[in-house]
Amino acid sequence: MTGRIRTAVLVSGRGSNMMSLIEASRRPGYPADIVLVASNRPDAGGLQHARAEGIEAIAIDHRAHPDRESFERALDEALNARGIELVCLAGFMRVLTSWFVTRWAGRLLNIHPSLLPLFRGIHTHRQALEAGVLLHGCTVHFVIPELDAGPIIAQACVPVISDDTEESLAARVLAREHRLYPTALALVASGRARLVEDRVKFESGWSCEGEIASPPFDSWSETPSTSG
Ligand code: GAR
Repeated sequence: MTGRIRTAVLVSGRGSNMMSLIEASRRPGYPADIVLVASNRPDAGGLQHARAEGIEAIAIDHRAHPDRESFERALDEALNARGIELVCLAGFMRVLTSWFVTRWAGRLLNIHPSLLPLFRGIHTHRQALEAGVLLHGCTVHFVIPELDAGPIIAQACVPVISDDTEESLAARVLAREHRLYPTALALVASGRARLVEDRVKFESGWSCEGEIASPPFDSWSETPSTSG
């Protein structure tokens, strides 16, 4: 494999998905290199965790900018200045404008704690409990201007158990997020999943089938052990 893809992770909070991406990026053959963590909140715990891992971590405080566009221009400049090729939103709780999303089209990923297109927005675990679904989960998708609506790269599901609370269900989903996001990033960084018009095009045998068939590979540089 030639050069690893220079990747930034954007966080607003504790950054547990960010940590799972950093850990994955250190495995042999992993195709993405996490070289920057950025947050719109200077107090985000994720920034401290990233620095402790020796990764550059910067705050671009949205409150210091007069409007969304000025904040996003500062973010875009910071990414470009470091030669970033892919951006992963990981608990980044700022809605991005179509200006930014279009600039990064096909290079901007997000993880959302539901099986999209179900339960967009916030309080997804509450929404799932209220709807009475028996399966819930998480989705990694390319970001498009419409919120939580972009083409799906990978999904994983978990059971909903009868005495689940929002907290117990969130914890079960989060554990799956930590496995799913590194898998999805590897698919994109290796070129095995690409955004083509408004669909994700997978290289033959490399689509991620989620929890039902757990991610089809452990070693990113080898051929898949199951075919799609
Ligand atoms: C994760 O559950 C992620 O899916 C969710 O925020 C949490 C961040 O946790 N993202 C969204 O809700 C985006 N709409 P983390 O900071 O520990 O990764």
